[in-house]
Amino acid sequence: MAFFGKSKDSEFDISSVTVPTHIGIIMDGNGRWAKKRGLPRSAGHKAGGKNFRTITRYCSDIGVKYLTVYAFSTENWKRPQDEISALMLLFKSYLEEALNDFQDDSIVVKFIGDKSRFDKELRELMIRTEEGSAHRDGMVLNIAMNYGSRDEIVRAARTLAQKALDNKISPDDITEQMFADNLYTKGQPDPDLIIRPSGEYRISNFLLWQCAYSEFVIMDKLWPDFTKEDLNSAILEFAKRSRRFGGV
Ligand code: IPE
Ligand code: IPE
Ligand code: MG
Repeated sequence: MAFFGKSKDSEFDISSVTVPTHIGIIMDGNGRWAKKRGLPRSAGHKAGGKNFRTITRYCSDIGVKYLTVYAFSTENWKRPQDEISALMLLFKSYLEEALNDFQDDSIVVKFIGDKSRFDKELRELMIRTEEGSAHRDGMVLNIAMNYGSRDEIVRAARTLAQKALDNKISPDDITEQMFADNLYTKGQPDPDLIIRPSGEYRISNFLLWQCAYSEFVIMDKLWPDFTKEDLNSAILEFAKRSRRFGGV
C-alpha cells in the first residue's frame, strides 16, 4: 500500500493518506434513488451505471490497484422480470460504452461470478472485454455479476473434492492458500476497505472469504448520489482505523 492519493478536495483531501490497495463497493440504493424521484427502478439503475463509470475512473486516478464492484448478485434473479430485463439491457449498453472509456485509463476488466446464466450476447461481451483488456497494466476492475460468495465457496470446495477423488491431492494438502486460489479473486490481495452506500449494515453475500480482515465503511448515501468526495471521506475514515489482523 505505497500509493498516495492525488486528490486535494479541501475538506476531503486524501493527498496525505495511503490509498487502500483494494477497495470493494456494494453499489446499492438505485431503486430507492428512483423511488424518491417518482421514477421507475430502471431509472435508478441507469443513474447507478453512470456513477459506476465516474467512480471507477476516479479510483484509477488516485492509485487504487484493485476495485471490486458488486453489480448483480446470485439472489438478484428473484426480482421482477421487467427489472431484470432492464438491468440486462443496461449491462450491455454500459459495458460497451464504459469499456471504451476505460481503455484510456489502462484498466484491466475481470468479471467475477458465474457467466453461464447470462444470454449469449452478454456472455460474449464479457469475454471480449476480459480478453481485450488483459494485456493492460492499470487498475484491476472486478465487476461482480451473478456473483454470490457462497456459490463461489461451494464451487471451490467442489473443485478441490474432485481433485482429491482423482488422487491429484490429498484432503490434508488443502490449505487456505489453495482454497483462495480456487476463488474468482485468485492471485489478488484481499479487499482492504469495503464501502456500502445506501445505509444498509450487511454484506449481502459479497466477498465472504476475502473480507475476513477488511475494514467496513457504511455510508448513508444512495449509490447514484455517491460522489468522489464520499469516496475520499471513506478513504480518510479507513486511514484512521487500526488494523491488527489478530495481533496486538
Ligand atoms: C443496487 O440497487 C443494484 C442492484 C442490486 C442490481 P438496488 O436495486 O438494490 O436498490 P435498492 O436497494 O432497492 O434501493
Ligand atoms: C447487494 O444489494 C447486491 C448489489 C448491490 C448488486 P441488494 O440490494 O441485492 O442486497 P439486500 O437485498 O439489500 O441485502
Ligand atoms: Mg438494494
